[in-house]
Amino acid sequence: MSLESIRWTGESLQLLDQRMLPAAERWLTLRSSAAVAAAITDMVVRGAPAIAITAAYGLALAVAAGEDRAAAAARLLAARPTAVNLRWAIERLAAIPDDAVAAEAVEIHREDRDINRRLGDAGAGLLSGGVLTICNTGALATGGWGTALGIVRSAIAAGRRVHVYALETRPYLQGARLTAYECVADGIPATLLTDSMAGALLATGRVSAAVVGCDRVAANGDTANKIGTYSLAVLCRHHGVPLYVAMPTSTLDLRCPTGAEIPIEQRPAEEVRGFGSSQTAPSLIDTWNPAFDVTPADLIAGWVTEHGMWQPSASVG
Ligand code: MRU
Repeated sequence: MSLESIRWTGESLQLLDQRMLPAAERWLTLRSSAAVAAAITDMVVRGAPAIAITAAYGLALAVAAGEDRAAAAARLLAARPTAVNLRWAIERLAAIPDDAVAAEAVEIHREDRDINRRLGDAGAGLLSGGVLTICNTGALATGGWGTALGIVRSAIAAGRRVHVYALETRPYLQGARLTAYECVADGIPATLLTDSMAGALLATGRVSAAVVGCDRVAANGDTANKIGTYSLAVLCRHHGVPLYVAMPTSTLDLRCPTGAEIPIEQRPAEEVRGFGSSQTAPSLIDTWNPAFDVTPADLIAGWVTEHGMWQPSASVG
């Protein structure tokens, strides 16, 4: 099946509201770049490649409405700070004349689906048996197929026996709500566990590899991804399990020499003080809620791109 979360009608942008999943499949129609920027900030759409595609369509709406293009681009750029794909898309469109922006956004969307297929096929041979993953890196997080979950899809399509262990991904629950949703929808064998269970699962020997996505990879290979990825990488190293990063080359930021330069988004306290809509902690307790962490390059077994394996300091493209 081809799960999708982004549709362009030529005059408006339709987004599957990922905040509502899996309880409801509700589509929103957006007609202005300001609404698109707000949808990215509010997590209607999330996942680095999906954010980039959405921002590209947002700029197309701005041009069609005769808005100040630079102001619209700046607003879209500020919508979420960590995923460098957003900047990549806005910079790619900067060179495109007004009357071709919408077509270029459609092309970015089409290319992303193609990139994910190639990336998935490039990594498929790395997976067999139990595969641990975090967050959602599937069709919902991209133009289709997915990156880390795309490798799983490609491995299964190639006849490999893979069983996904999906971490729930506290606090926003992208693993529980979205990866579990995709696995159930597509018949991918999968088991859901809470983040704190990862070490115990690894100790059973049931996991042969971990595969994760990324929001920004620095030139030295340090990798920003969903909060909890660093802990997972440390646990994997302890248990001798390789952790691979699925990295479309639009997520590589050679302007960041190391992970220390990657901006990390801080999210609202309510996500930590509660769980879904219920409050689980006192409203006055201080919180710390980074949306992403940085995994040092030496904990990563390999970066899979649409061009094959990447090595830090090598040029890509
Ligand atoms: O906060 P999110 O849901 O946008 O975080 C998403 C991730 O961390 C993904 O792993 C990353 O964007 C890659 S998605 C193919």
